[in-house]
Amino acid sequence: MDGILWRQYEGNHSLHIQIWRDQGYADWLAEETGFDCVEVKKAKIEDVKQYDAVLLGGGVYASGIAGLSFLRKHMDQLQGKKVIVFCDGMSPYEDAAIRLIVDRNMKDALADVPCFYCRGAWNMDALSFFDKSLCRMLRKAVAKKKPEDYEPLEKALMEAGDSNCDWTDKAYLAPVLEALAPCLSPKKQ
Ligand SMILES: Cc1cc2nc3c(=O)[nH]c(=O)nc-3n(C[C@H](O)[C@H](O)[C@H](O)COP(=O)(O)O)c2cc1C
Repeated sequence: MDGILWRQYEGNHSLHIQIWRDQGYADWLAEETGFDCVEVKKAKIEDVKQYDAVLLGGGVYASGIAGLSFLRKHMDQLQGKKVIVFCDGMSPYEDAAIRLIVDRNMKDALADVPCFYCRGAWNMDALSFFDKSLCRMLRKAVAKKKPEDYEPLEKALMEAGDSNCDWTDKAYLAPVLEALAPCLSPKKQ
């Protein structure tokens, strides 16, 4: 689900915004930070740029981070702000998988933006008949490889099989919270 949430702290002129697509991690981050969320597709840069900290989260689809185009488009208007990206995908939490996603997405204007990976979920039931069939074909092809040669995403697809999986864990947010620490009000640190 796409989303953004924002909020102004009482008695604190520092403003923060969290833009998200993934509800689970966004809800947890909102709880931990006090930031409000707004859907990416409803975000207006005129509003977002009033904030000191901008946090964008999105699922990983075909190695791309959903919602990132908003930042790519408006990064020039967010200079001097704390901008952080977090994403969630089904790939295992491994350096190779994370490196692939960061290299593919955090380029040009986004090259200096910290990007954190959280392991997400896999909802096989939500896939169309066509996508389910594609997944099964892909699994058949991957099964011909040695497990040690699987790409990170292939490893996750083989692990999931035909089941739904939920690998979400609040612990993945620890580095995100650490990076945000200077922006958090004392009671949230
Ligand atoms: C069509 C499709 C493509 C996907 N591509 C990737 C991928 O390239 N890498 C990955 O780690 N996960 C991939 N996933 C898994 C999603 O990233 C995972 O389900 C994630 O938790 C979705 O997050 P969201 O609910 O916040 O959008 C894909 C899922 C679908 C349905």
